[in-house]
Amino acid sequence: MSTAHYDVNGNIAVIRLDNPPVNGLGLELRRGIVNGIQKAEADDAVKAVVLIGSDRAFSGGADISEFGTDKAMAEPILTTVINYVESSRKPVIAAISGACMGGGLELALGCHYRIAKPDAQIALPEVKLGLLPGAGGTQRLPRVIGAEHAVNMIVSGSVVPAKQFKGSALFDEIVDGELLDAAIAYATKVVSENLPLKKVRDLKAKHPNPEGFFMFTQNTVGAMAKNYPAPLKCVEAVKAAVTMPFDKGMEVEREAFVNLMQTPESRALRHAFFSERLTSKIADVPSDTPVRDIKTVGVIGGGTMGTGISINFLNAGIPVTIVEMKQEGLDRGVEAIRKVYEGRVKKGRMSEDDAKAKMALLTPSLSYDDLSNVDLVIEAVFEEMGVKQSVFEKLDEVCKPGAILASNTSTLDLNKIASFTKRPEDVIGLHFFSPANIMKLLEVVRGDKTAKDVLATAMKLAKAIKKTAVVSGVCDGFIGNRMINQYQREALLMLEEGASVQQIDKAIEKFGFAMGPLRMADLAGGDIGWAIRKRQYEENPNMVKMVLADRICEMGRYGQKTGAGFYRYEPGNRNALHDPEVDKVVDEVRAELGITPRKISNQEILERCVYALVNEGAQILDEGIAQRASDIDMVYLTGYGFPVFRGGPMHYAEEVGLPNVVRAMQAFTEDRHTQPGFWEPAALLAKRAEEGKGFDSK
Ligand code: NAI
Repeated sequence: MSTAHYDVNGNIAVIRLDNPPVNGLGLELRRGIVNGIQKAEADDAVKAVVLIGSDRAFSGGADISEFGTDKAMAEPILTTVINYVESSRKPVIAAISGACMGGGLELALGCHYRIAKPDAQIALPEVKLGLLPGAGGTQRLPRVIGAEHAVNMIVSGSVVPAKQFKGSALFDEIVDGELLDAAIAYATKVVSENLPLKKVRDLKAKHPNPEGFFMFTQNTVGAMAKNYPAPLKCVEAVKAAVTMPFDKGMEVEREAFVNLMQTPESRALRHAFFSERLTSKIADVPSDTPVRDIKTVGVIGGGTMGTGISINFLNAGIPVTIVEMKQEGLDRGVEAIRKVYEGRVKKGRMSEDDAKAKMALLTPSLSYDDLSNVDLVIEAVFEEMGVKQSVFEKLDEVCKPGAILASNTSTLDLNKIASFTKRPEDVIGLHFFSPANIMKLLEVVRGDKTAKDVLATAMKLAKAIKKTAVVSGVCDGFIGNRMINQYQREALLMLEEGASVQQIDKAIEKFGFAMGPLRMADLAGGDIGWAIRKRQYEENPNMVKMVLADRICEMGRYGQKTGAGFYRYEPGNRNALHDPEVDKVVDEVRAELGITPRKISNQEILERCVYALVNEGAQILDEGIAQRASDIDMVYLTGYGFPVFRGGPMHYAEEVGLPNVVRAMQAFTEDRHTQPGFWEPAALLAKRAEEGKGFDSK
């Protein structure tokens, strides 16, 4: 049980916070602090109190395991604790090392004196969850570091080392040596010199020109924060610290906090925060499952994906052997990797020596024999089963026992790929997204026979290369692409039915997507989707054909790479330009299909695109392809540019209300040249809507 330990050292009481890993301010700890102060006040021998955490953290802030539970709001809440500390009749000295963030910093600001190690990490990161510091942080921080620095820290949520505040009223001393000794020495000095009970609330938050400063800041922050209400509220609260008495300012902060807690944006950000932490939990793979050691990696294919994938491992200091078929392809791949590092050096993001050291970890090869000793191989060759077969048969021959054999396939059946080897338990899908050295998402595809330790190893490795890994079962397109196909399909059908290219993209971009579906298709390359559709038409003759999209591809318009797709592009420029040629083709196809174009509302565009994602997501969840709805949301937030402030498609559907989503879908069944049953709500969606529950509720 987390608690605060109380000791007396001479005439100094020491309250040591003890709630690993980061001294989250859970109920027990909050009680422990209040009890400690009470004891100190009751003991005449005690003249001052030191409040100290661990080396790792004074306190990282709220205890996230309490979020959403009664404990979070149970007294003493943090504000009560801080008031208790601040009004203590004996001086309280905060001794700070490691993380001192959020509620942790607010607690420290309630103490009468603060000493810190130079590298202690100071932050008020609440804005990242769409909130503001709600226990006096917006009122006390400006009083010790000034309004301007405080606004910067609170609006950005960024972490600053304590030493940067040397000389400010935030810290009375920055200490290098043993923290507890220094704190006791400092407390002894406070006692012997009879220093006053310094309260931050009694200081003045200063700015030489508050009116001009806050007007300017409100304008710039407002413009930057666009879809997020929290940053502006942060500015407002700091302004109150400068312009109002402390208690009034606290009221402004409290009101803003309560207000922000209710916003869909904060709910979405908190959902994303918790969802990210859940992705690595796999129901039947306990967290103590042993993992295989991955010291060296082989990558097959030096194309778009192979090069990006290699960079991830080089960045993490893991040597990579990259294998191509011909010298020319190999040279091209190595050059592509070198260019990325050169670019980083040019931009000042990396030293030349560091770039050289990374390149030295790369071994180019034309021979599979060079993979005989690697711990993991990732295949990124052409997307054809025949090619995959020859590669995996070869790997089975040359790789050492226990090596993990991974495929980066985006659509092919991983179980089939695994069957090309005599060790299907060692085969797994590692589906990176392009550009693979940049995109956060990694779908980890679990085959029917993939061993648990292989899965656990992949999840651990994903962390080492800083990816958000989401487990997916085997199906066509896995989680992300299977869903995006439905979304793209709706966009393309609406284009045939009467919407324009520009209208569709604008409606989706206004919702907050980084890019509308047609601009995205042009970026990804229309030929890829076309090849997939052609395969699907063959496999499923009843499928509605995307006549218009196919026609655009037949014309050789594959998007940006051919200078034309649904838009046209000037050479060397990625700006999507309206192309009357496309309008002409659209008219022709509508005539051929006998469609009388109708006016399509932006609302319909949005609902058909997004609910197509939701319905397929629900189906994927029901089939057990995804472990939980929040995993699906993480796929969309980290891999598909779904607006973060909307929390992902499944969360968004819950915000709209699942019964409302179902009702909207039922309206789409009429009057569409679409497959019968397409808009039938997935069984799980219908069930959850009827039960009045969310997707992940038990
Ligand atoms: P690419 O065409 O750019 O590169 C493939 C490379 O593999 C070529 O350089 C080729 O010479 C080499 N190669 C082919 N057969 C080989 C063999 N037997 N041995 C060694 N090298 C061989 O293709 P890209 O885009 O890199 O795709 C590779 C894989 O990644 C495919 O399975 C694809 O579906 C998947 N993928 C692609 C994504 C994308 O956005 N391009 C995203 C996610 C997955």
